[in-house]
Amino acid sequence: MKIRTISTPLQNIKTDLLVVPLFEGENIKGRPFKRFDAALGGRISAAIASENFTGKAKESFMIFAPPGAKARKLLLAGLGEKKDLDAERIRIAAGGAGKAASPGRDRDIAFAARKFGRLKPFDCGKAFAEGLGLSAYKFLEHKTSDDKKPTLRNLTFVPEDRPSANDWREGAEEGWIFVEAANFARDLANHPSNVVTPTMLARVAKKIAAKYRLKCGVLSEADAKRLGMGAFLSVAKGSDEPAKFITLEYAPRGAKHTVALVGKGITFDSGGISLKPSSGMEAMKSDMGGAAAALAIILGAARLKVNKRVIMLIAAAENMPGGHATKPGDVVKSMGGKTIEVINTDAEGRLVLIDALKYAERYKPDAVLDFATLTGACSVALGPYYSGLLGNDQKLIDTVKKAAEAAGDKMWQLPLTDEYRELMKGETADLKNTSGTRAGGTITAAAFLSEFTKKYPWAHIDIAPTAFIDKPWPYIGKGATGAPVRTVLNFLKYFEPPRRGRART
Ligand code: BES
Ligand code: MN
Ligand code: ZN
Repeated sequence: MKIRTISTPLQNIKTDLLVVPLFEGENIKGRPFKRFDAALGGRISAAIASENFTGKAKESFMIFAPPGAKARKLLLAGLGEKKDLDAERIRIAAGGAGKAASPGRDRDIAFAARKFGRLKPFDCGKAFAEGLGLSAYKFLEHKTSDDKKPTLRNLTFVPEDRPSANDWREGAEEGWIFVEAANFARDLANHPSNVVTPTMLARVAKKIAAKYRLKCGVLSEADAKRLGMGAFLSVAKGSDEPAKFITLEYAPRGAKHTVALVGKGITFDSGGISLKPSSGMEAMKSDMGGAAAALAIILGAARLKVNKRVIMLIAAAENMPGGHATKPGDVVKSMGGKTIEVINTDAEGRLVLIDALKYAERYKPDAVLDFATLTGACSVALGPYYSGLLGNDQKLIDTVKKAAEAAGDKMWQLPLTDEYRELMKGETADLKNTSGTRAGGTITAAAFLSEFTKKYPWAHIDIAPTAFIDKPWPYIGKGATGAPVRTVLNFLKYFEPPRRGRART
């Protein structure tokens, strides 16, 4: 996307789609759109007077071939009430514009970048780019019909306030990197499991490594066996697809902190011998959403040139029932020696994650974040909008929360205390992989993970509710969402991991 700013009267902007944001109940006859409305022969004030457009958030109104203007289409985008304006409202308004742009036809979009008071122009430009790029996303890879791809190429800001012009552009440039990273994760998670296999994820990692000069490692099943990753390998046993343990490292000179990102990479989750019901099982192609996010984040971190060392670890496997599959009651040995009784082969995510979390220790990380479509219980608890957030370090959790707020990603912390760890203690083995009750399923899963994260501050993001959705959000369509890519990019760019000697929970 080419992003620029120009200061030309709005009626003289030549573009496919000109977007004008307006507050609810705003007087168009005042600043800053008085002259523009007059040039259009009062078409905007007429739309408002007739109540075809009221300026409410999520509302938009299209004027085709507006008379007196050079734009092909004019979109009025509602911002809601002035006192409620925040970056999320701008994303939503931009989302309306992204949906209004015709794929295959519209190439240029322009935005009347007005003064937004206490919001920084940089953040506004970033939010606009995010809402636009995320809403315009389509997954058409497997369509041979004439569905058209989005064709937006040029984004022009027309700032009301000239000194802010660069900020709008720079914000949007960063926002576009966030968009491309999130959409990269969405592409991976939308692909079916016969395309995105563990082997394919390894290939993707190698490509990223070559392009951004990262260090890449791909461990085979034999390598993982030598390392003692028996929990990880137990999940892959029922499948003919070989498992891969994938690492990437971004190490900028002078980095003071190391952050490790761990992604659940189950390329298809049939449940294994504890087979899932067939209805809705197709969505389990997205059970590698955490791995997709991890790949996208390290790619985005390299493009943003963040000042932290970033390690990415993906445990990729397919969970299938087969003659060699792990069976309920089997005991497996995880890296580091702890034994686990597999009560339910459908609780496979935690098994692959614990070997990756243990492996993370060797990098001496200042913080570890994991992303996993881990529990259906998380959707039961939070519905289809919030990710679950848990961990062993309140300061780190609070920092992730702030980074999420800045991104417009919704996250909700759940408690994680010793009682829940108690429920995961094993009888035959050290631990069992399910508690035996559905109650508190997201917390007991995290409690199980927490037995392997004692050496560093850790935050766990359960993206089961948010990674793959069947009803669209305001600026993200159905299917893969790219959660929590933008949150973690904010975290890596703008926040520091907590100091050592912290309060642990
Ligand atoms: N991948 C699923 C969780 C999931 C479910 C993600 C729905 C997205 C949408 C996970 O591996 C799983 O099957 N979890 C079980 C755990 C149970 C057996 C303790 C679940 O949630 O039912
Ligand atoms: Mn499962
Ligand atoms: Zn799963």
